[in-house]
Amino acid sequence: MAPGTPFLPTITDEKILRPNFVRDEDERPKVAYNQFSNDIPVISLAGIDDEEGVGGEKRSEICHKIVAACEDWGIFQVVDHGVDTELVSEMTRLAKEFFVLPPEEKLRFDMSGGKKGGFIVSSHLQGEAVQDWREIVTFFSYPIGARDYSRWPDKPEGWRSVAESYSEKLMGLACKLLGVLSEAMGLEKEALTKACVDMDQKMVVNFYPKCPQPDLTLGLKRHTDPGTITLLYQDQVGGLQATKDGGKTWITVQPVEGAFVVNLGDHGHYLSNGRFKNADHQAVVNSNYERLSIATFQNPAPEAIVYPLAIREGEKPVLDEPITFAKMYRRKMSKDLELAQLKKMAK
Ligand code: SIN
Ligand code: FE2
Repeated sequence: MAPGTPFLPTITDEKILRPNFVRDEDERPKVAYNQFSNDIPVISLAGIDDEEGVGGEKRSEICHKIVAACEDWGIFQVVDHGVDTELVSEMTRLAKEFFVLPPEEKLRFDMSGGKKGGFIVSSHLQGEAVQDWREIVTFFSYPIGARDYSRWPDKPEGWRSVAESYSEKLMGLACKLLGVLSEAMGLEKEALTKACVDMDQKMVVNFYPKCPQPDLTLGLKRHTDPGTITLLYQDQVGGLQATKDGGKTWITVQPVEGAFVVNLGDHGHYLSNGRFKNADHQAVVNSNYERLSIATFQNPAPEAIVYPLAIREGEKPVLDEPITFAKMYRRKMSKDLELAQLKKMAK
């Protein structure tokens, strides 16, 4: 999206931020949405499928870069990834058109009553004291047999077929990247995908309206993703931020035209016994531009076992015992909610 393309924000048109969006001082943005950093590696995947000869050398060079980025940050960007540019722009066009639909159209997919998939304003975690400055539309795309099309937007026209192709291509890209990480762990290429049992995929399209007081709030609060790996498309506005020193320093990821930001989630982190970082990140907003991002979450099946697949010499397992992903996820969410409610009570 060219910065400046108008959207109709539905959160609020007010000039002063409502108190339910105001973050505690320690959580507020430390770096501006457009103060970009190039610290996060941008990796070309051209040649990643070549296995032998000169091409093989190219593949191993790419793999080294990916592994170093995962050890260092847990987050990197990929270009020359093989996902058709036209498809990505169709998906983003439809996503933008969805958010400018009248509220009553979007609310046909309201998921605030605990429905699986649909539209919601702000935070997933109802009951949190402070809300995120965003609207989202979300839908589950894998396993294919479990798709509930009644929770996928039916407008704008073409959503279903474009979203299906987009999700299929991103599944392919994710598996390729997991292949690289499996090999880096000394395992067969399919090890990480197999550990996911039947890999789930969930899309979350984020729309961040212009914000009257962006210094006081966040588009999406600080978190790590729970799943294996996430592929994020973002427009050119900027707002995704990462940290690798426990939140002392934040950097704003430089948007790169046509790139996907890839980040490791908790599942990927645990399976590598902590060798690959689970990227700690957040999204900030601004008063000049609306922003759009599309996150594709590649998650293990709920019954998949979370436990390190490779423990290197001298290392201890980062988990005491194997648990299912469903249990890991529930623990994470209830811890998050507990912390948020403690903050609420302390106010
Ligand atoms: C996410 O973490 O899921 C989205 C971040 C962003 O919109 O930049
Ligand atoms: Fe995230």
